Amino acid sequence: MKRMVSGIKPTGNLTLGNYIGAIKQFVELNKNYESFIFVADLHAITLPQEPKILKEKIKEIVGIYLACGLDSNDTYIFIQSENIYHTLVSWILECNSYMGEMSRMTQYKDLASKEKNITTGIFTYPILMASDILIYDADVVPTGIDQKQHIELTRNIAIRFNNRYGDTFKVPDEVIPEFGSKIMNLQNPLDKMGKSDDNPKGNIYLLDDLKQVRKKIMSAVTDSDNTIKYDLDKKPGISNLITIYSSLTNKSIKKIEDEFKNSNYGDFKSKVADEVIKLLEDIQSKYNNIINSNIIDETLDKGLIKSEKIAKEKAYQLLNKLGLGRY
Ligand code: TYM
Repeated sequence: MKRMVSGIKPTGNLTLGNYIGAIKQFVELNKNYESFIFVADLHAITLPQEPKILKEKIKEIVGIYLACGLDSNDTYIFIQSENIYHTLVSWILECNSYMGEMSRMTQYKDLASKEKNITTGIFTYPILMASDILIYDADVVPTGIDQKQHIELTRNIAIRFNNRYGDTFKVPDEVIPEFGSKIMNLQNPLDKMGKSDDNPKGNIYLLDDLKQVRKKIMSAVTDSDNTIKYDLDKKPGISNLITIYSSLTNKSIKKIEDEFKNSNYGDFKSKVADEVIKLLEDIQSKYNNIINSNIIDETLDKGLIKSEKIAKEKAYQLLNKLGLGRY
């Protein structure tokens, strides 16, 4: 069976963007792939984190994975830092990557242009991401568009390594949804909806109070032309709502435009709110049953045993190829 690998960083609160861009894909692909879905906690510490909150957020993501429909019977869910082979392989890959290619990563460039004191981890984390993926010989990696450059880097590292040391890694394919790969902030539709940004009014969090969710959607920033038409350049706000509606109902953009051609923005926003609330109600009721049960630990134990077995084999294969240790 082919393999899927992906992860989410436990920083801030998971958003509707994380659901539409990533988790929804995980659940759909899960039917046809052997799946390794992890909590990318080592990625979280590239920025300072409060240990107590980080621990809570790690558990919360596992609860959300399960509440969204992933199941420990057919998905290996684990915490990245518990599987120590990711960091070992990451170091080996760091020694086979170049400053030039790392300096071109736009997420690093953006942060470096805004902040003076950034950690070395911010610079090298795309290599840890490559390790997360290559260690499992992943066939596909579902993510939103913001991770595209990192998956391309991963492919380049794999190809280069294979050329140098012989066939070692599978070269993975990215899976980025055609619509919904970048859900935007409702208050500023030119900015991505992000779990750690400072404007909660523009972000829908998966565990948000449902009344607040309706309020946030009804007050989403739109243009003044009042026609429901998809046009990213001229109408980014309404296009973002159309994308959300399309992702949750599986209706095409064309169908949505036809269906709402005689409606105003208020009517449409109210329908979008109904769909989002229906989804979150379901996720939240499952989450509340799961979060304080044994299912969390049972899931993580099972995921760790399997992921560690595979990662260890790959790590030892690398040590052997590079002439390291006694392997
Ligand atoms: P992270 O935690 O920032 O985001 C998790 C996933 O959610 C997607 N996403 C979005 N999709 C659509 N619209 C949005 N507004 C939106 N915001 C976030 C992201 O594209 C991502 O798929 N480095 C990664 C985590 C990671 C990883 C990996 C992913 C670590 N190792 C290996 C895949 C494979 C990150 O920080 O994602």
